[in-house]
Amino acid sequence: MTISQPYFTTRICRYDTAALREAATLIRAGEPVAVPTETVYGLAADATDDLAVAAIFAAKGRPGFNPLIVHVADRGMAERIATLNRTADMLAKAFWPGPLTMVLPLRADSNIAPRVTAGLATIALRMPAHPAMLSLIRESGKPLAAPSANASGSISPTRAEHVLASLGGRVRMILDAGPTSEGLESTIVAPEEQRIRMLRPGSVTPEMLEKASGLPVVVAQQYVPMEAVEAPGQLESHYAPSKPLRLNAANAERDEYMIGFGLIACHYNLSPEADLREAASNLFAALHLADASTATRIAIASIPTDGIGMAINDRLRRAAA
Ligand code: TXA
Ligand code: MG
Repeated sequence: MTISQPYFTTRICRYDTAALREAATLIRAGEPVAVPTETVYGLAADATDDLAVAAIFAAKGRPGFNPLIVHVADRGMAERIATLNRTADMLAKAFWPGPLTMVLPLRADSNIAPRVTAGLATIALRMPAHPAMLSLIRESGKPLAAPSANASGSISPTRAEHVLASLGGRVRMILDAGPTSEGLESTIVAPEEQRIRMLRPGSVTPEMLEKASGLPVVVAQQYVPMEAVEAPGQLESHYAPSKPLRLNAANAERDEYMIGFGLIACHYNLSPEADLREAASNLFAALHLADASTATRIAIASIPTDGIGMAINDRLRRAAA
C-alpha cells in the first residue's frame, strides 16, 4: 500500500434516536457507518454514491472484484433497483425482512453506483430485519451497500467491539445495539423460474426455501475456478481467524483453545444444550475470543450438519482452509 489511509477516531455510539440521526447525516455526507443487522454488523454507505462505496472498499481492504449486498427498507425500493421474478416474489414475501439475500437482474435505471456490483449485471439485495439498519435506510433515504464490518478476509463481527477491533481508526462511527441475533451472514440465493440456487448457506435453510416456494434448491458447487465464481466472497480462505483451526476435535491438545458444542470440556461452549441456532449466534464471538486468547491454536468440536448446521460447517471449513 503506497497511499496512506485516512485515520479517524472511531466512536461506539449506543443506538438511539440521536445516534441514528447522526449516522444518517454521515451517510448523506458520503461516509460509511458501521451498523448492526440481525446477521452480523455491516459497514454501510449510500449505494448510489460511488465515492461513498469506494470508502467501504478502502476501509475493509476489500478487492474491487467482490461486489456488495444492497440493503433496502421496503419492497418499492427493491423494485426500483432490480427485477423480481415470480420466485423472487415468493421468497421476498416469505423471508423479508430477514436474513435472505437474493441475486437479481440489475435495472438499467437503478442509479446504483457501478462499484457496488463490480461490473456484474446482477445485484445482491436484502431487506434486513434489524430496526437499526431499517431505520438508517429510512432516515438517510438511501439504499445502503453494506458488507460485513470487518477487515477483508477476517471473521465477521457480531458485536460492536468486534468492529472496533477490526476497523478501529478506519470508520468514524459504530452504532451499537448489542450482539446480533442470527450470528451468521445471510443466506444468498439466485431465484430462478424452476429452481433456487443457493450461493451461500445461512440461517434460512434449503428446507425453509423449498417449503416456501415449492421449488427445488440446488446448492452451488463448493469448489469453482476463480473466473466462474458467482459469489466472489465465497472464495475458500475467508472468515479466517489468525490462528490454525482444527475441526471435529474430541478434546483440546496442548496450546489449543477449545470451542465446544454439547456436553464437552472446553474453554467456550457454543451451546451446552447442543442447540444449533444458539451455536450459530455464538460462533463468531467464540472465534474472536479464541483468536484473542493466549493459546496458539484453536480446536472446535464437531457440529451436526442438519438445518443451520450446514451454514455453521460452511463457515468452519473456510475458517480452517
Ligand atoms: O448478512 C449479511 O449478508 C451481511 C449483512 C451486513 O447484511 N453482509 C455480508 O456481506 O455478509 P459480505 O460483503 O460480507 O458478503 C456478501 C457476499 C459476497 O460473497 C459477495 O461476493 C456476494 O455477496 N455478492 C454480492 N453481490 C453479488 C452478485 N451480484 N452476485 C453474486 N454474489 C454477490
Ligand atoms: Mg464478509
